[in-house]
Amino acid sequence: MARRRTFAIISHPDAGKTTLTEKFLLYAGAIEAAGAVKARRDRRAATSDWMGMEQERGISITSAALRFEYKDTVFNLLDTPGHRDFSEDTYRVLAAADCAVMVLDAAKGVEPQTLKLFDVCRARGIPLVSFINKFDRPGLSPLELLDNIESKIGLIPVPVTWPVGIPGDFKGVIDRRSGDFYRYDKTAHGATIAPEEVLSPEAAAAMVGDDYVTARDEIELLDAVGSGFDAKPFLAGETTPVFFGSAVSNFGVRLLLEAMIELAPSPVPRADEDGVPRSLESPFSALVFKVQANMDPNHRDRIAFFRVCSGRFERGMTAIHARTGRPYSLKYAHQMFGQDRATVDEAYPGDIIGVVNATDLGIGDSLYVDVPVVFPAIPSFAPEYFMVARNKDSARYKQFRRGITQLDEEGVIQVLRHPDRGDQEPILAAVGPMQFEVAQYRLEEEFGAPVELSPTNYKVARRTDDAGRDALKAMWQAEVFTRSDGAMLALFPSRFQLERFQADHPDVLLERIVAGIDE
Ligand code: G4P
Repeated sequence: MARRRTFAIISHPDAGKTTLTEKFLLYAGAIEAAGAVKARRDRRAATSDWMGMEQERGISITSAALRFEYKDTVFNLLDTPGHRDFSEDTYRVLAAADCAVMVLDAAKGVEPQTLKLFDVCRARGIPLVSFINKFDRPGLSPLELLDNIESKIGLIPVPVTWPVGIPGDFKGVIDRRSGDFYRYDKTAHGATIAPEEVLSPEAAAAMVGDDYVTARDEIELLDAVGSGFDAKPFLAGETTPVFFGSAVSNFGVRLLLEAMIELAPSPVPRADEDGVPRSLESPFSALVFKVQANMDPNHRDRIAFFRVCSGRFERGMTAIHARTGRPYSLKYAHQMFGQDRATVDEAYPGDIIGVVNATDLGIGDSLYVDVPVVFPAIPSFAPEYFMVARNKDSARYKQFRRGITQLDEEGVIQVLRHPDRGDQEPILAAVGPMQFEVAQYRLEEEFGAPVELSPTNYKVARRTDDAGRDALKAMWQAEVFTRSDGAMLALFPSRFQLERFQADHPDVLLERIVAGIDE
């Protein structure tokens, strides 16, 4: 398990997450040539994306875990959705990660989407490594970018490499640890591994001249203020090591990948719901963080992804499913690489495994052997968008119900039912509006259930209880719905109405759903 690095790449759409993912795979030898696995036109349509809609729109909506090895290290790369809306899926994926790489566009710095993702990392205590991408193009100066990270997300940036030349006239980077200069070759084609030219300080000074001297002066200033890399504040989420590069031309990719071996943490004991850590050597335990149906249209299957948290996983073993207390056979366990599956014989803490035909496993479920454990539930977000779903074809009601239930279990959307209207007209609740498009698309394409989604007046949700539901009956603008996990959610048309009701009924429970993150 010391060889494991389980991490996610997070970024604002277009900053270069897909490109960097692909380049990691290229450098690790998991793919032979970037772009070769996919036609250039639908470049984003292969390895980690598989849905038709993703291919059409060129965005990554669902997430996959990619496993690859590099220099004796086993990487489990969790792919987070890259669309503009913040998605609950990202939060769940981060529940399985030990570390995250934040990709920033050198011309844009920290963008709003990155801020929300950062909040999630902070809430989960995930250390962040920053990669400033697109240095081959004009952009902000390195000092502006560092300032941006510090002022916007409050992490102290610690440059591990330092750029020579400005964005757009980029000459390479100096590795602050060794002093070596890595020369950027503009003409290098990005599809295959770029040969790297590493020069000593003297040779670099002679070759590059003024830009190199300026960069060295800047490094001296950085050294003088003592911003050298130190593992402790990084792991505590106080600092972020920063790397500069250009993923599209492969520059800086190897340095970053190697830094992930050196800097990123290997798995640590995970706390159970009482806060007691389960040692990595304890018998097998795992946490289900993602459920996905119909990944392979030819199979119509349902895969539950879990992260091994302790012990050794062996194919065919039987674990206990903590929620039901029943034995659960792990016969059909796979590791995924895009649509390809490889059967797994054994796995260790940090590894991500998909179990095929996992009908009973739900998000947040724990599995264990011998010594019982229940890991804390993965909290769901306060939904901010609410639509009524109606089945458009009465002959397809069964498909409609099955599809809604499946998307609910996968957490694609939250499904809220009214005691009187039940399954007929459930409310679909989401954190970002794109979740509705995904739900509608999948209901039609995968389940054959054409659906009409109509807006509601609701804008705010709060958790309540039986007494709250009775009290709210008197208020015609608000209604109470039951979510499939049993939670009762009171929906209000506005924060103002919520606050007014609360002021009149201070005893009624109206609780924010995830404190600190939902607003
Ligand atoms: P995302 O997953 O974060 O959304 O970003 P993605 O990797 O898809 O990259 C978005 C665009 O930025 C792509 O251009 C990609 O080629 C480009 N890009 C990525 N890294 C770099 C870099 O280091 N330098 C420069 N100059 N561009 C970079 P596109 O036009 O959308 O696609 P394509 O036509 O290039 O394939």
